[in-house]
Amino acid sequence: MIYLPLQHLQPGMVLARSVYYHPTSLPLIVAGQQLGSPMIRKLTELNISGVYIESKFASDIEVKEFIEPKIKQQVTNELKSLYGGYLHNMPLSTSTIDSMRNIAEKLLNYITSKEEFLLNIIDIKDYDTYTYSHSIYVGTLSVLIGMQLNYSENLLLHLAMAGLFHDIGKLDISLDIINKKGPLTPEEFDEIKTHPKKAISRLEFSQKIPNIVLSAIESHHEKYNGTGYPYGLKGDDIPIYGRILALADVYDALTSSRSYRRAWLPNEAVEYMMGCGGTHFDHDLLKAFLRIIAAYPVGTVVQLSNGSLAIVLQNSKEHILRPKIRLLTPENLANTDVDLATDRSFFNVTVTGTITDVDKLPNTIFE
Ligand SMILES: [Fe+2]
Repeated sequence: MIYLPLQHLQPGMVLARSVYYHPTSLPLIVAGQQLGSPMIRKLTELNISGVYIESKFASDIEVKEFIEPKIKQQVTNELKSLYGGYLHNMPLSTSTIDSMRNIAEKLLNYITSKEEFLLNIIDIKDYDTYTYSHSIYVGTLSVLIGMQLNYSENLLLHLAMAGLFHDIGKLDISLDIINKKGPLTPEEFDEIKTHPKKAISRLEFSQKIPNIVLSAIESHHEKYNGTGYPYGLKGDDIPIYGRILALADVYDALTSSRSYRRAWLPNEAVEYMMGCGGTHFDHDLLKAFLRIIAAYPVGTVVQLSNGSLAIVLQNSKEHILRPKIRLLTPENLANTDVDLATDRSFFNVTVTGTITDVDKLPNTIFE
């Protein structure tokens, strides 16, 4: 299977992975179905960023979602019922805080029980459940960074909690601003910028929430060079968990589609973030983050510096920019597998980008 952003889908292509859409946990389109124009329109309306398509060159490539739909669904439902009711009450009851902790524990147990610690897939997200999926991914990515840093189980649980509830302060911001489709006015943006502080006034009376979680939530929009908010903290004055949350928050926001822009591909987000070490992000934490993200996830079609096209087969955290690939072109080498990290004849070849435009792919790929 290969990944294609939605704008490049064409009728007749065969879906290789089922597409799920909230609120049902049943798939919206089942793998194996041939896409017609109405279905492509429907996916576009739902703001789904892309799908996996069958290709004879990639029939043996299996792509597993990092967070299984079943788990994502369970956590989403629990977050939804918390956000729909109890979190609006002030002060939060002990049972609400216990529920927050239980959700974080469930997510943490799931992540630590996995063998793969590399985000190696373009997870399909839709716009309507953005708030919940964003919380889940910020929690997940923060935990994965913490695992790279060998954090204890207890600290990882705190990271999961902070990630899941990092934007809880948005509950106290007018929905008109939160849901606004167009660009925000400076006044509206000033209002948005109050959400980290609002989260603290909401949570600080709850003695069962550790300080480390509070300070992480409060500082997730601070930037390493001091240009962030709400306090303009600089460098190591920003609590380390806030610096971790910032990486997870920005990566997930960039790779999700929004009403005003398409989702960035992982390599685009990774390249952008690599350029922000020392300005937006803590350089050392950025290095840890880059060990958990595959810039070219399995199933993406890439261009090589020698002009060839290839499909990504496998990634390793040691070489996130040099995956194992299967050549599509030139024709005489089509279907040859190459490990860019170890194959000597390819040491001078680099991956230069992702190819998503169907017109640039060989005609044979979808036959
Ligand atoms: Fe935020």
